[in-house]
Amino acid sequence: MSETEVPKGLSGVIVDETAICTTDSTGNLLYRGYKAVDLAERADAADVAYLLINDRLPGKDEQDDFHRKLMKFAGIDSRVSEVIRIMKEKDIMRGLRSLTSLYPYSSDDRQDLMLEMAARFPRFISDTFRTAKGEEPLPDVDAPYAERVYYLFTGKRDSEKARLLNKLMVLYMEHEFNASTYAMRVTASTEADPVSAFVSALATIKGPLHGGANAEILDFFLGFRNEQEARDYVNRKIAAKEKIMGFGHRVYKERDPRAQFVKEQLRKMDQDAHMFRIAVAIEEEMWEKKKIPANLDFFAAIYMHMLGLDQDLYTALFAASRVFGWIAHFNEQMEHNKLIRPSSKYVGKTGREF
Ligand code: SDX
Repeated sequence: MSETEVPKGLSGVIVDETAICTTDSTGNLLYRGYKAVDLAERADAADVAYLLINDRLPGKDEQDDFHRKLMKFAGIDSRVSEVIRIMKEKDIMRGLRSLTSLYPYSSDDRQDLMLEMAARFPRFISDTFRTAKGEEPLPDVDAPYAERVYYLFTGKRDSEKARLLNKLMVLYMEHEFNASTYAMRVTASTEADPVSAFVSALATIKGPLHGGANAEILDFFLGFRNEQEARDYVNRKIAAKEKIMGFGHRVYKERDPRAQFVKEQLRKMDQDAHMFRIAVAIEEEMWEKKKIPANLDFFAAIYMHMLGLDQDLYTALFAASRVFGWIAHFNEQMEHNKLIRPSSKYVGKTGREF
């Protein structure tokens, strides 16, 4: 069998086909053929989850059935609540990964099991976060998915802010062969169970080059009093050859359509426009000096801050949305599965006698 040498990090390498999502460097992003930004503008997050998994938008009965399924798993096993109480885990993504791995799921059917995992993420995240702060877990609510997530993450019922969070959850839901989705597909390709595959994805999304980026942006962003301070920061980081979180992308070399969508939402939300202007100053400076575009995480972090979400929850919000993309990709991998096992070029020592 002949071998092909490819760029490091599989950059630009097509490793398989997918019918779930497509992106291109000029910034088109389709979910099952629909423009993702159109879905973010007008579709309910649960309907987009259904679309990604089933390749069609749900009818009224299917919407009700899907909502019932998500709500069926809203509670939590008391033994697991005890584990959360004992662990007091401050690292939310570590807590989510551990709970996803150990939970005694009730579903036998693989599709129900994956939906059960997805439906339990918001509860796992909320209870871990609140316990670490010494607060009691919240009682659950029967509400549309984004509204339930907003409530579990903030403790507040606010349908307008939940509607804005819904837009972001749609944009975080899927992104073809990103690192965590591909890690999940590698695990699935060994015929491992869905829990193992999703734990691989959760371990991978945590990294700051991927899902962990959005949890580091406010650390620098909130410190700027004006646009000049922001521009100075960018130039200092460039001079130090250090990366700025929320910028750059393996696929989007000109614009991330999701970032531009959230930027427009931010423009509408930010009444005094202070944060918006500072964000734009950073985006402009990065483009002028490095021709590197903002990615979704940059504006998403500021947007979640404006919605009142704690920064510790940002990567978890990403995961609680992307898990529906993982379900679609798990199924697609298993439709025409082949073990994912690349080759390598040996550059080590040879001929050593033991
Ligand atoms: C997500 O893949 C996906 O789809 C991911 C995602 C999804 O929805 O699943 O979109 C979500 O993970 C978005 C990315 C979040 N990560 C960050 O914001 C972290 C900061 N970004 C970088 O680490 C970087 O841009 C990556 C990892 C996102 C992409 O890196 P690549 O494609 O491997 O490109 P590279 O690291 O080789 O960078 C190319 C050049 C380098 O300069 P040179 O060494 O060639 O001189 O651009 C520079 C980099 O130094 N560069 C940056 C930069 N990102 C790249 N310089 C400053 N700040 C940055 N953020």
